[in-house]
Amino acid sequence: DETVVRRDRFAGGPARSFLSSLADDERIFAADLAVDRAHVVMLAEQGIVDEATVGEILAALDEVEAAGHGDLSDGEDVHEAIESAVIDRVGPEGGKMHTARSRNDEVAACIRYRLREDVLDLLSTLVGAREQLLAVASDHDETVMPGYTHLQPAQPTTVAHWVLSYEQALQRDTGRLLDAYERINQSPLGAAAFAGTPFEVNRERTAELLGFDSVAENSMDASATRDFLVETISAVAALATTLSSLAEDVIVMASKDHVELDDDYSSTSSIMPQKKNPDTLELVRGRTGDATAGLNGLLTNLKGQPRAYNRDLQRAGRHAWDAIDSVTDSVEVAAGAVATADWPAETLEAAAGEGFATATGVADLLAMAGVPFRTAHEVVAEAAAGLDADEDAPDYEALSAVAEDVLGDPLSQFVEREAVERALDPTESVAMRDSRGGPAPAAVAEQVSDA
Ligand code: ARG
Repeated sequence: DETVVRRDRFAGGPARSFLSSLADDERIFAADLAVDRAHVVMLAEQGIVDEATVGEILAALDEVEAAGHGDLSDGEDVHEAIESAVIDRVGPEGGKMHTARSRNDEVAACIRYRLREDVLDLLSTLVGAREQLLAVASDHDETVMPGYTHLQPAQPTTVAHWVLSYEQALQRDTGRLLDAYERINQSPLGAAAFAGTPFEVNRERTAELLGFDSVAENSMDASATRDFLVETISAVAALATTLSSLAEDVIVMASKDHVELDDDYSSTSSIMPQKKNPDTLELVRGRTGDATAGLNGLLTNLKGQPRAYNRDLQRAGRHAWDAIDSVTDSVEVAAGAVATADWPAETLEAAAGEGFATATGVADLLAMAGVPFRTAHEVVAEAAAGLDADEDAPDYEALSAVAEDVLGDPLSQFVEREAVERALDPTESVAMRDSRGGPAPAAVAEQVSDA
């Protein structure tokens, strides 16, 4: 029979193991069984292969499944190995399984089928992570902390506002994955090698049996394209980049005792007994490299491949699997580290007042009283310049003196002393900024409920 002939022709030789993807294909073992089942059921329904033979093939596939991927021995990939295992059980008639298809449409279907599962897994991990971050936001809407630009004290904000900034980025990461999912979930089956088939296949039916939403139309495109991998791993790399910023923030906070990580998410030093290091978050940051490497590897693999199928494609999937596994784990660990951390309110509030971080609020106050903002900025900048090295912020008297200097009138002419003192207080400074999306507790509550 043809299979035996083919096996003889390609048995052995120094390139045998180089050609083989059988080990890597463990990832798509279950997918291949599903694809085989859908295909042979369709063949029976269409009267292309008789029902009795298809029944035997399905029974053999059950046995192959029970024996597991590790039991496969023959073949240069999982598709060939499963076919051989079926033929071993059914006899030559088992070879009818491969009627009206090619490994090209088969492997493309397997990758899409498995990737769909992995993306769903990542999405549910992401949703769980976002719920954890939202819980932190609800608990810490009044935990004032310093906000930074250029890593320098900028304006006071809250832990809730900070954590929501990541939750919202993760919303978009979720959206990008859902968009990609739509285009993953199309069936290439029935494309055969690339040029279609003379058999009366029912492509809609195999798509339906495998839960694909639609059929990838053009058979050359269907067997050749891996752009759904590019799109998915781009989204994964973007997600990893979001996580790496979150991780970096927490690492910096931990270095200043602005956060205390739970022991479960910390590591110690083998020599320095006093150390408690944020290693989990450093690995989250480090895994961004896995994701961008995956995207790069994938794009490099695919670049310039001619239509329709080339064996290079056998090396495309691994980039995607590595990236998605690595980032799925990162989502869980990053969210867990944040959810279980302790935010020391007093330390954070004191830090929020450092470096005259309330300056913008004082300028805003003057501007609200009618002083042009640029002039108000000048008044406060001058007060900032006059601060002693050990002073965090000017007091009312110092501000008033500068105001008189610049504006020609004492500060009381513009704003009440009490209002200025409020603006100089980090907590009040946060409460003032209740614009949509801002850090004031009411604005944060809106963001939490929207999320
Ligand atoms: N194992 C291959 C892959 O993963 C599929 C085999 C198609 N081989 C071929 N020579 N057309 O891409």
